[in-house]
Amino acid sequence: MDSGRDDGLASELANLPLETRYPPFTLRQYAGFWLPEVTLARGLPAARDRFAPRPDDVLLASFPKSGTTWLKALAFATVRRAAHPPSSHDHPLRRRSPHDCVPFLEISLALADDMDAAAADLDALPSPRVLATHLPFSLLPVPGRLAAAAGRIVYVCRDPKDALVSSWLFTRKASENVGVDAGSFSLREAVELFCAGRGLSCPQWRHVVEYWEASRNEHHRVLFLRYEQMLRDPVGSLRTMAEFMGCAFSPEEEERGVDRAIAELCSMEELKNVEANRKGRTGSGVKADAFFRKGVAGDWSNHMTPEMGKMVDEAVKHGLRGSGFSFADSTTPVSGQPSTLAK
Ligand code: A3P
Repeated sequence: MDSGRDDGLASELANLPLETRYPPFTLRQYAGFWLPEVTLARGLPAARDRFAPRPDDVLLASFPKSGTTWLKALAFATVRRAAHPPSSHDHPLRRRSPHDCVPFLEISLALADDMDAAAADLDALPSPRVLATHLPFSLLPVPGRLAAAAGRIVYVCRDPKDALVSSWLFTRKASENVGVDAGSFSLREAVELFCAGRGLSCPQWRHVVEYWEASRNEHHRVLFLRYEQMLRDPVGSLRTMAEFMGCAFSPEEEERGVDRAIAELCSMEELKNVEANRKGRTGSGVKADAFFRKGVAGDWSNHMTPEMGKMVDEAVKHGLRGSGFSFADSTTPVSGQPSTLAK
């Protein structure tokens, strides 16, 4: 364990700054980020105390609503392709939600009735494990040792306005599922919270910049992807990811179209039509269809007024000042990322 930052975190919770306007969560500010109480009280301490990282772990990290579900499907299908060829009719992704194929580290622990059993489930996953997290880089279990001890991190970043609109729509839909009425949670309110850096996992720009910096400092350990670039070139992005995860597609596999078959299996059209994603619920109780909406870039402008868009742009610009990071770099080709981002 590093510096003991979470000593007594659960008991300190009541003293942390509180935000109750973001349904269905009660958020608390901890180490600069607004996180659900349940994550701080249970998920984070358990991830630190009970999770034993392995050198071949693959951790998929993201700010919520940035393409996590897609990333989970792509990484799972790629890492497990020997056991589950993408053409297989009973491929796990044709039967189960990507969220049930790849668990969230802190969320599975936070929501567990039996913490010991949940930790044992994570331990029992076959290597290389593929896990996911919404935790900021600075709050990962043992961030200092992570690069040396715990495999690789793939981060997906998305345009803030699209992530915000996706999050607002998801919040309203998913809150209904858990019996919370979020109908009065307006987009304006969501925008104001986001701009004040007080939404779920916010400030978003800080979440992104932490991983971006990590990818520059340790580009063999942290791959920084952009959702928009993945949309533009899904197969190219997938190849980059596979190589980074240590399971590059061989020329023979590329010849046979294994990479293209995985990109197809994980496409919005395919996943949206899987029965488990249309009618099922994920392990955390959310209706699985809430994770599949449009999956495009720029949809924010169909929901936000230009004035709201400007507010977000200004807040993000202010938040990014001095960081060297720009969301406009989404046009950088994926194949150019490691050298572009290397210091
Ligand atoms: P929209 O609401 O803009 O459509 P997350 O998985 O991090 O919760 O992010 C959800 C966003 O990713 C949603 O964006 C969702 O539609 C989109 N998404 C889900 N599956 C996808 C896929 N296979 N390809 C592209 N986008 C996908």
